[in-house]
Amino acid sequence: MEKKLKINYNKLASHYENDVDTKSFNAYYERPAMIKTIGNVKGLKVLDAGCGAGYYLEWLIKNKAEKVAGIDFSNKMIDAAKKRVGNKATIIEANLNKKLPFKNEYFDLIISSLTLHYVKNLSFTLNEFSRILKKGGRLVFSIHHPIMTYLYFSLDNYFEEVLLEDYINKVPVYFYHRSFNDIFDALNKNHFLVEKVVEPKPTKKFLEVDKKNYIKLIKKPHFIIIKSIRKNVKFYNNY
Ligand SMILES: C[S@@+](CC[C@H](N)C(=O)[O-])C[C@H]1O[C@@H](n2cnc3c(N)ncnc32)[C@H](O)[C@@H]1O
Repeated sequence: MEKKLKINYNKLASHYENDVDTKSFNAYYERPAMIKTIGNVKGLKVLDAGCGAGYYLEWLIKNKAEKVAGIDFSNKMIDAAKKRVGNKATIIEANLNKKLPFKNEYFDLIISSLTLHYVKNLSFTLNEFSRILKKGGRLVFSIHHPIMTYLYFSLDNYFEEVLLEDYINKVPVYFYHRSFNDIFDALNKNHFLVEKVVEPKPTKKFLEVDKKNYIKLIKKPHFIIIKSIRKNVKFYNNY
């Protein structure tokens, strides 16, 4: 599945490069809420995990992060991100299901937008984030809201982790439904203390451009954003 997902994200790279920045769910729902939750990045060393075509990399550079790095497993996304920000960020092809190419306690902040529902073992990836973040550093990520996946995919068992298929721009993608219990357990096991949980609401601009989905999103959650702090404890490798 990982191989297929990578191939399909390669197919989606031009969509991310050219269209996604004006798509209602990204531009007027997830991104404004994510940016508000991330807060001030000035002077920070930041990793964007699953950077796609580099929207957040550009935002981090504009907002004066001291050091900006991005990783993605799609080489076409990497090309698009490099085209966007040039040498102002370190952009590396890397897989979040594997050990990451960064040294211990390097970053002040890791952001990850709509990516962690694709990883095979959330706890493994969070263990790596915990290793490369400084103690007291922050992790801010957005994922599918578990209530949304439970309802939208008519799941029989909310508590069971299950791989699902959906489409982005008619291209299939495969991601995991995970309960809140499993997400928070994985954070806790890997030394993260949850600071803030955000269930975004669509903005006014969303209403102007996509009234049909606005009416849905104003009543039902779709994505969730979680901000957590890397606890001040020695790194313990769980894997
Ligand atoms: C929905 S896109 C989001 C892109 C970007 N964060 C944004 O918001 O524009 C998800 C991204 O995660 C990447 N991705 C999925 N699984 C991955 C993995 N195992 N390792 C690294 N990147 C992965 C995809 O290639 C894709 O670029």
